[in-house]
Order: sequence, then C-alpha cells, then structure tokens
Amino acid sequence: MPGPIYLSRLLTDRAMAHLEAAGRSAGRTVRVGREAPPSREELAAGLAGADAAVLTLTERVDADLLAAAGPQLRVVANVAVGFDNIDLAAARAAGVVVTNTPGVLDRASADHTFALILAVTRRIAEGDRLIRGREPWVWGPRMLVGLDVSAGATLGILGYGRIGSAVARRALAFDMRVLATSRRATPGTTADGVTFVDTETLLAESDVVSVHTPLTPQTRHLIDAAALAAMKPGAYLINTARGGVVDEEALVAALRDGHLRGAALDVFEGEPAVNPALLDAPGLVLTPHTASAGEATRDAMGILAVDNVAAVLAGNPPLTPVG
Ligand code: DGY
Repeated sequence: MPGPIYLSRLLTDRAMAHLEAAGRSAGRTVRVGREAPPSREELAAGLAGADAAVLTLTERVDADLLAAAGPQLRVVANVAVGFDNIDLAAARAAGVVVTNTPGVLDRASADHTFALILAVTRRIAEGDRLIRGREPWVWGPRMLVGLDVSAGATLGILGYGRIGSAVARRALAFDMRVLATSRRATPGTTADGVTFVDTETLLAESDVVSVHTPLTPQTRHLIDAAALAAMKPGAYLINTARGGVVDEEALVAALRDGHLRGAALDVFEGEPAVNPALLDAPGLVLTPHTASAGEATRDAMGILAVDNVAAVLAGNPPLTPVG
C-alpha cells in the first residue's frame, strides 16, 4: 500500500480539488492539516509515513523533522517561490526532492509591490487613517503631499529576477527610471529599459528601493544601518521579499530620524510577530505577507506544488526543483 500525501495547510478550493484528484489517480490517500499552521509536533505527525508532502512557508523543515518523517519520504513541495524554511542540505542528505513555485506568482507579487510603492509615496494609508479618525479636514495645497513617481523618479530593484523584472515593467509604464542589481548583468549595461548598476550606485541614486532577493546567509540584513545611510535622503524602501533581508531596528531608526521618508513592508523578521517599534514608526505601510494573494495566483501556486508531487511519485523529474 503506497504511503499518503501529506498537506500541512488548506489550499484554495481549486488546488484542494486538484490534490484530491492527484491522490485518487496515484491511488494514495491525502492526509490534510488545518487552515492554521501546524505545530512542530503536528507537522512531524503529519509527515510520519508520508511519501510526499505539500507544505507552506510557515513550516520549518530540518534534519530532525526529516528523520521523524521516515526514509520513505520522497518529495517536499513548498507552496511558495521562497524556500528559506527548508534546510536544503538536510533534504539532499535524506534523499528528499524539494520543489517551489516559481513563475506563477510574479505578476501578483509585482502588482502588490507596485501598490505598496504608490501607497507609501502617495500616503494612501495616512489619508485613510485621517478620514477614519473623524477629525475635520479640508483640501489644502500642503496636505498629504508625497512623491510623484511618474515625474521622473528612480526605482532601484535589488535583485532582478522574475519578480524584480515584473516590477520593472510596471515602473517603466509609470515613466520611472529603473536601476537594478543582477548577478547575471554587468553594471553599466542596459536591457529592456533597465540600467544595471552596483548596489552602492542603486542605493545612492534611487528615490524608491525595492528588495527582491531571496533570504540566504549572504542577504540576511543586506539592508542594514549602513545600507540605509547610503540611500538617498528622503527615499523610500519597499520589502516584499523576506523580512530577514532588512534590519528592522535600523529601518525604524532611519524613519524616525527622517533620513527615509517612508517604507512599506509585506514581510517581517519575526513573522508572524511584528516588531512593535514598526507599528509606531512614521511613514510606514504594512501588509501581512499578502503579495502573492491573488485568487488565480494562489490556485496556480497550489496546483504547481501538487503537480510536482505527482511527477515525483510517478517516477518523473519534478517540474520546478530547488537547488
Ligand atoms: C513566496 O512565494 O515565497 C511568497 O513569499 C509567498 O507567496
């Protein structure tokens, strides 16, 4: 009797139906968790004896957990493009294939990034709070004035991958000048309207800096106090990548002393906990890690994760392996 497929958290209805169909056609039962993240004990129990797992970024997978799962586990499909929640070396040592969901969330993530750029530069959340505060207000030439991104402002994209390039296309449509860092492009070259530069130039010249790097030991606190100080005075920082890429304490200090005019964060260092200092920092727009939360996108992420599991269980190569 083949082992079950374990799903740690409920996916969208379409992705759930896809998983059930995949389980049926593989002759396997599907062991389904809840909507909320499992505790470590629940995760270990869910994985025990499973041949395959569909997990989300809230599940931390390390060597101990893989050992508890058992040697029959063949594939862990992460329902996310990021995979910093999974110890890849431990998975490799355990002979477990790891997959992610690249490509299907680029547009949604770029849309959300651009929404945050506009929200923070045009002070949308501040205006909403002002009206909800029920204080009297009247139109004024100096009221809630912010940056005109489409009047020649420069956007700096740290990490020109799939999502970074989708953000660049949106910025170009808004007549922004776009700079980017990329491991694959030589500083000084231009492609598709984007000029590639080194990190120092990007920080010094951008009115808005948007972070699109994965979280790795090399990128942890890439945006630290020194990087923030190197940003143009009055600039804005956007992070829809991973919380650990930005030193939140340093960001709060840069907002408080006015060096930065604003910032927008969709991801947090201690997620889902949010550093209380962020809640009182001026000019900060916050969203709860929802950059990929488009209906079609969340369907596609779940379906791709399930297809990866189905491929591996059928003895075929995974569609989107990591590493
Ligand atoms: C990802 O896919 O890594 C996002 O952070 C969640 O959609």
